Amino acid sequence: MSKYIYYGANQYAAEHFERFSKKYEPLCFCDRSASGDAMFCGLPVFPPSAMFDRYPDAPVLITRNIRVIVETQFYLIEELGVPKDRIVNFEPYIEVATCEPLETRLMVGVNHAGVCCSDFGKNRTPDVYFPDKSSPNEKVEAITALRKRIKTALANGEPCECAGCVALCTRRVSVEPKPLCLVEFDFQHSCNVKCIYCDVWDNKTKELDVPALRAILAGMEQAGLIDDATALHFTRGEIATFTQRAELLFAARDFPCVIFSNCTIYDDTVAKHLELGKTTINCSIDAGTRNTRDLREN
Ligand SMILES: C[S@@+](CC[C@H](N)C(=O)[O-])C[C@H]1O[C@@H](n2cnc3c(N)ncnc32)[C@H](O)[C@@H]1O
Ligand code: SF4
Ligand code: SF4
Repeated sequence: MSKYIYYGANQYAAEHFERFSKKYEPLCFCDRSASGDAMFCGLPVFPPSAMFDRYPDAPVLITRNIRVIVETQFYLIEELGVPKDRIVNFEPYIEVATCEPLETRLMVGVNHAGVCCSDFGKNRTPDVYFPDKSSPNEKVEAITALRKRIKTALANGEPCECAGCVALCTRRVSVEPKPLCLVEFDFQHSCNVKCIYCDVWDNKTKELDVPALRAILAGMEQAGLIDDATALHFTRGEIATFTQRAELLFAARDFPCVIFSNCTIYDDTVAKHLELGKTTINCSIDAGTRNTRDLREN
């Protein structure tokens, strides 16, 4: 029976190694960043050139994140000359007009969801406001319907919010929908500083219904819109001054998170969340410079 070259020696491969190896007996890893005599999950890791010299006919299993299988298979075929039928998990794909936000991310609040965070030229983000008293499932259905409507319109060249946006390009995307890479939480909190370019510092802070947000996340997970590798971003306000930060971070504990903060205040809750090991903090050093901020009275 054939042994397989695992393409992609990274955290995703390590996390799923047992599942992969039950079905496809591994020969070695291959990774374009490999050098020297590296070992990974008990196997040698070769750079692509060495892999082809050593095993010119072995089948290849892509062990990179399911979100990047299509890009990886075309790297293997077009850059490295691997025949398509050597890739055991080659995914059917389509070429469509789309954009990076539409394929990978979503902005979610308790009452509203939107696709991209900015206005690009004349375009505004496709978004949806959930009707009052919508259940979590109805909110998830509204999100799914929004994304489907935009993707269908773009595929058919029909008018929609995205028509003519500078961010549109032709991409190869998997026929099988993939979970989002990131969800940005709209926690609508004001900030202790006032950067001149910022449009969220004077958010009108309202009490956040954290259980409702958690229920939307659970519904999105059930619908396959997100999974445990989807990163949650806290970026629409300043978390260090947000009084419900402990509750919000607790609700996000199962996901890898990225906390965006001006880091002007040390916060123990945030520090403890970082200790869980899944979360990183992005310190916006631009927010702390004299040119870009004024300190305000809290
Ligand atoms: C809106 S802030 C909120 C989180 C936190 N207060 C901070 O500054 O990191 C998140 C990020 O958005 C960036 N940002 C703010 N206003 C922006 C704008 N108009 N265009 C692009 N990025 C912006 C900030 O530099 C920061 O890195
Ligand atoms: S095409 Fe433009 S407006 Fe539409 S989702 Fe993408 S970035 Fe936003
Ligand atoms: S620190 Fe962040 S939220 Fe505050 S004003 Fe600056 S960019 Fe906006």
